[in-house]
Amino acid sequence: MKLGVNVDHVATLRQARLINEPDPVTAALIAEQAGADSIIMHLREDRRHIQDRDLELAKQLIKTKLNLEMAATQEMVRIALDVRPDTATLVPERREELTTEGGLDVVSQVDHLRKAVKLLQDAGIRVSLFIDPDPDQIKAAHRLGADAVEIHTGRYAEARDEAERLKRLDEIVEAAKFASRLKFFVAAGHGLNYVNVSDVARIQEIEELNIGHSIIGRAVFVGIERAVREMKQIIITSRYVASL
Ligand code: PXP
Repeated sequence: MKLGVNVDHVATLRQARLINEPDPVTAALIAEQAGADSIIMHLREDRRHIQDRDLELAKQLIKTKLNLEMAATQEMVRIALDVRPDTATLVPERREELTTEGGLDVVSQVDHLRKAVKLLQDAGIRVSLFIDPDPDQIKAAHRLGADAVEIHTGRYAEARDEAERLKRLDEIVEAAKFASRLKFFVAAGHGLNYVNVSDVARIQEIEELNIGHSIIGRAVFVGIERAVREMKQIIITSRYVASL
């Protein structure tokens, strides 16, 4: 199972002072050395954390894969075609949200998304759609010809009690199985941390976990290298135990 590390919140800290440190690209390089399989950056329309320069530098310097999270807007498609990340993950984006709150509503936007997906794929960029664990969204992603889906684990992460947590986990299991049957590459992410990641890592159909906030938060105390290594170890161990 692969681990994608999202470095947006290193940039959040930098932007708090509008200076040039801490640098998210440096964080990305250390994360790679610690075992990250890909680096994720979300270039938001309001540029609240990652800046265009971060993306360009990351593309030049990272040795693994670059996954650009982006809204399916003309501006972002143009930037993606210019920078050429390995993967473009299309996410919904609202200016007033603190973070990406829900999955992309593919069902109601098939026509709008089709153009963006085609432009990106024609340029050799793999397209992933960040969606809720909902079979209708997966079917719509399939109709669009996306290469991958990333299942939104936010509701699972925010469950208030064990019954709800198990229910949300089950939705993720079913969605992962369905997406895998449709031959999607299946990723998952949002709100995963050192405690709740294990149950998601055990789902065999999920091939990649994309994690940001908890890793960068832990890195404040133990450094990025250790924070990434610890997460990777939990994921590998959970996966191994599930396979026994
Ligand atoms: N995947 C996607 C598509 C996201 O938008 C985010 C948040 O930027 C993440 C994964 C990582 O979420 P978190 O920061 O909660 O780990």
